[in-house]
Amino acid sequence: MIYTRVAGTGSYLPERVVTNGDLEKIVDTNDEWIVSRTGIRERHFAADDQNASDLAVEASKRAMQAAHVHAGEIDLIIVATSTPDMVFPSTACILQDKLGIKHSTAFDMQAVCAGFVYAVATADKFIRSGSAKCALIVGAEVFSRILNWKDRSTCVLFGDGAGAVVLKASNVPGILTTHLHTDGSYRDVLCTPGTVENGAIRGSPLLAMDGGTVYKFAVKAFEDVAWEALNANGMQPSEIDWFICHQANRRIIMHAAKKLNLPDEKVVLTVDRHGNTSAASIPLALDVTVRDGKIKAGDNVLLAALGGGFAWGAALLKW
Ligand code: ACO
Repeated sequence: MIYTRVAGTGSYLPERVVTNGDLEKIVDTNDEWIVSRTGIRERHFAADDQNASDLAVEASKRAMQAAHVHAGEIDLIIVATSTPDMVFPSTACILQDKLGIKHSTAFDMQAVCAGFVYAVATADKFIRSGSAKCALIVGAEVFSRILNWKDRSTCVLFGDGAGAVVLKASNVPGILTTHLHTDGSYRDVLCTPGTVENGAIRGSPLLAMDGGTVYKFAVKAFEDVAWEALNANGMQPSEIDWFICHQANRRIIMHAAKKLNLPDEKVVLTVDRHGNTSAASIPLALDVTVRDGKIKAGDNVLLAALGGGFAWGAALLKW
C-alpha cells in the first residue's frame, strides 16, 4: 500500500511588516477594532518587485532543505494561489523554472483560501496512485495587490506570504483522509470578479466580501468538515493534537474549535502576525508549528480551510 507523508515544511514572509497602526494612517480604522474583530495585529506585504512565485521559491527551498530532497527528485509541483504572477503560464511553471526543476508535472490550484488543502488532497491522490513519488505543494499569495483601500471592512484583513510542504510516497500512513467540498451558489459572497479582456480590465479587479455571510458559513463548514474527517477515521476530537485552520480570523477559528471541544493549546494561531494570507495561511501556520518543535511523531494534525466559491475541505494527517 502506498501512502503520502510530509517530508518537510518551509515558509517565507516578505520583509515589510504592516501594523494596524500603519493602516490607521491610510484608512479610517483602528487597532482596537481590527484586533477585537479579527485577532490581526500585523501582516507582511510583498515588495513591488516580488510576485507570488518569488515568495514560493523561498518557501520551497526551505521545505526542500527540511525534507533533504533536491530539485531532481521533485516529480509534481502544485501551487495554490489566487494571485498568480500572470494570466498564464501558471505560477507553478514559473516556480519550476526558478527552482531548476526539469522533469515534473506542474500546475496551479485555484480554490482561493482552500487552495492548499485542495492541492494536498490532489497530490495525495497522485502519490497513492503511483503517478508521483515526491511532490512540492505550495500556497503563495500577494493579496496586497487586490485589496480595495476604500473598503475598510476588507483591506485590513489580508497579508502576503508563502508556505510549502514536500510530500513523499511512503509505506507508513501520513495523510489519512482528505475531504473537499464546493458550493458555487455562494460565488458572489467573496470574490474578485474582474478579468482581462481586449487589453483592459473588465469588472472590478479588487476583492469584495460580505463578511457576515462568510463568517456564518465558515464556522459551520469548519465544524462539519472536521467531523467528516474524524468520522472517516473513527476518531474523536480529543484525539486531535493540532487543529490548523485557515487563518482568516481568530474569532472564526476559536468558534470552530469550541464547537469541537478542542482546548486552546491544540489550536494553532498565526493570524495575529500574518493576517489572512489565503492559500498560504495553512502551510505558513504548519511550518511555524513544526519549526517551534511542537508537532511530534505520531501526532494527529487536522487541517481545515474555506475560501471563495465557497470551496472548503479538510485533511487529517498522522505526523
Ligand atoms: N475599522 C473600523 N471600523 C470598521 C472597519 C474597520 N476596518 N470595518 C468595518 N467597520 C465598521 C463598520 O462600518 C460598521 O460600522 P457601523 O455599525 O457604523 O455601520 C461596524 O464596524 C460593524 O461592521 P460589521 O461588518 O458588522 O462588523 P463585524 O463585527 O461583522 O466584523 C468582519 C466584520 C470582521 C469582516 C466579520 O464579518 C468577519 O470576521 N467575517 C469573516 C470574514 C473573513 O474573515 N473573511 C476572510 C476572507 S474569507 C476566508 O478567508 C474564509
